[in-house]
Amino acid sequence: MTVREIVTVGHPVLRERAREVTVDELASVEVQQLIDDLIDTMRHANGAGIAANQIGVPLRIAVIEVNDNPRYPYKPRIPLTVIVNPVIEPVAADDGTDDGTDEMVEINEGCLSVPNLRGSVMRHVNVRVRHLDRGGAAHDERKRGLTAGTFQHECDHLDGVLFLDRVTDPRTFTTWEQFERFHRAAFIERITAFVARVGS
Ligand code: NI
Repeated sequence: MTVREIVTVGHPVLRERAREVTVDELASVEVQQLIDDLIDTMRHANGAGIAANQIGVPLRIAVIEVNDNPRYPYKPRIPLTVIVNPVIEPVAADDGTDDGTDEMVEINEGCLSVPNLRGSVMRHVNVRVRHLDRGGAAHDERKRGLTAGTFQHECDHLDGVLFLDRVTDPRTFTTWEQFERFHRAAFIERITAFVARVGS
């Protein structure tokens, strides 16, 4: 188990577009070890996900997992998912509610690379994610709700984008302490109803 140091906002590697991983690279001992380290680092920090450039490696690899997360107790569970070279795009809902609109949801987010700050961003409710797993197998999946938001957050990292960039109202910035004191209850109430409606 190797918990790596997480780089924080201001480090240039967080602002670069990470590059694609070749199939040969993905099979290498070095990249497989990198994926193990990402998983260990994410779990150690109680993150919902982490991208390779957050530990200083500018490759298009991220890991995601939500399992009774103390940082985000309202998030539905996500099994451990390794995404390599992901391509993400908003899509219409596929549950019969598709009215041709691109539904968005306001989510209060935080980030392991932005210590002690949260802010509200708009995320697409339905996305399609195409990616490779750590074994090189191709996946083409839909994600929905808060889970879709988590995938958008991690894919943003690989393009050098932080949630800070997507906060449209800077007045929503809070420390974690002030979020707990003044904003958590209203957010949990709204987002719990959202999760109940969309199912993830
Ligand atoms: Ni992040």
